[in-house]
Amino acid sequence: MTSDMEIISELLKDLKKEEKDVGFSFLGLKFNPFPLAGLPRYILSPLDKGTIEKIIFFIRSTHRENDYSGLTIVADFGMGKTHLMKFIQDVIEKFNKAAQEIKIDFSAVTCFIDRPEDNPQMVIHKIIEDIGVDKIRKYIWKIIIETLGTDPKMFREEYEPKHTLIKTSLEDWKKLFEEPIKSNHLKFLKSFKKMNGDFKKLQESAKEIITTQIVTDSNIAERYLELVFSPEEKIADLSWDILSGYRSKREIQRKELQFLNSVVKILRKVGFKHLYVFVDEFEDIQKLSSAKKSNYLLSLNTLINKERNWSVIISLTEDVLEEEIKKEPPLYDRLTTQKIEIEPLNVEKGKKLIIKYLNLARDKEDESLHPFTDESVEKMIQLSKGNYRSFLVLSHNSLECALHEKSAEVTTEIIDKARVLRG
Ligand SMILES: Nc1ncnc2c1ncn2[C@@H]1O[C@H](COP(=O)(O)OP(=O)(O)O)[C@@H](O)[C@H]1O
Ligand SMILES: [Mg+2]
Repeated sequence: MTSDMEIISELLKDLKKEEKDVGFSFLGLKFNPFPLAGLPRYILSPLDKGTIEKIIFFIRSTHRENDYSGLTIVADFGMGKTHLMKFIQDVIEKFNKAAQEIKIDFSAVTCFIDRPEDNPQMVIHKIIEDIGVDKIRKYIWKIIIETLGTDPKMFREEYEPKHTLIKTSLEDWKKLFEEPIKSNHLKFLKSFKKMNGDFKKLQESAKEIITTQIVTDSNIAERYLELVFSPEEKIADLSWDILSGYRSKREIQRKELQFLNSVVKILRKVGFKHLYVFVDEFEDIQKLSSAKKSNYLLSLNTLINKERNWSVIISLTEDVLEEEIKKEPPLYDRLTTQKIEIEPLNVEKGKKLIIKYLNLARDKEDESLHPFTDESVEKMIQLSKGNYRSFLVLSHNSLECALHEKSAEVTTEIIDKARVLRG
């Protein structure tokens, strides 16, 4: 037999065996719960009590007016920064929902940016993208309709066709300001056109509302207007590009600030109180040229100092924080108003982490380490040097190895094998 055939027949044997045997159930598990890489599948809570207290303190401080609210998460690669950011985002969203249910006035928008990109406009773009152009359009419409719709009778007088024989009833005009037409701009515009309403005038009024309530800059106002008034078939093409179509212009610095402020204003007007922006892998700014980098940091500083109700949560490695960001003292201060440093795992926390993951794959939660043992956890802590990612990959692979070897326990020998086999 050729060696490739040997490999294939070995692998095929595996498949057949897996069909026959009961898989992970002989280890007391439904599946292998340990993550290998990528975004967290299960957003588990932090292991340190101190971290949880800091998160509560941070969220509390952000909904008090005029408080600075920056949070920096500092740790090495694989130590759980992304995981922690996702956890905090999740907490804010759940808290948001819970607060709405008991009618407490805390409503937040969160958005997650994977890395800082190479200029601040991209940050704004990501914010828009994350909130969704559709939602922004809906919000703008809400602002317009609520301003227009205070009195349907006056509205009719203003927009009804002047020189026509078609007569429409006040009832029809009233319907424009009732559901389901009111909150759906497409339905509204359709009915409005059917009644021969003065479309040009409506657009002018909408622009007036946008410039007085959202943004004075007429270019940006025009783009918001297009967002709402473009014909239906064009809507699919409307992306954030419309909103940032001024990108090539020279006045970009001023515009981008106005743009961001207008987005924040839209959110505020429709009832959101707070915007949380998460920027992961912030250490990537290190890769920018020095001119770009200082421009980036400067713009970010202007952005976040201007908008107090805009919280920024960043994560990065210690060296970049201390070497790069520290060169911009106001930004450094603002971002590190609050700081969470993630400590490496020790044996006690390693055990906690293992139990949390095992419970995901158990029929009933319990506090046992089985199939892991005290010794195997100690060994994995030692091999991984307390790094979350290495520790969890090792746990994953050891479990696979135990299954393959038909060992009912993950012994230190199994861990050695898993390490050699899977690197
Ligand atoms: N508190 C935690 N509970 C469970 N898993 C965690 C926790 N913190 C980190 N992890 C896991 O550890 C691995 C590495 O974390 P990650 O957030 O990707 O690190 P970093 O972003 O610092 O490189 C991921 O698989 C992640 O899901
Ligand atoms: Mg990460």
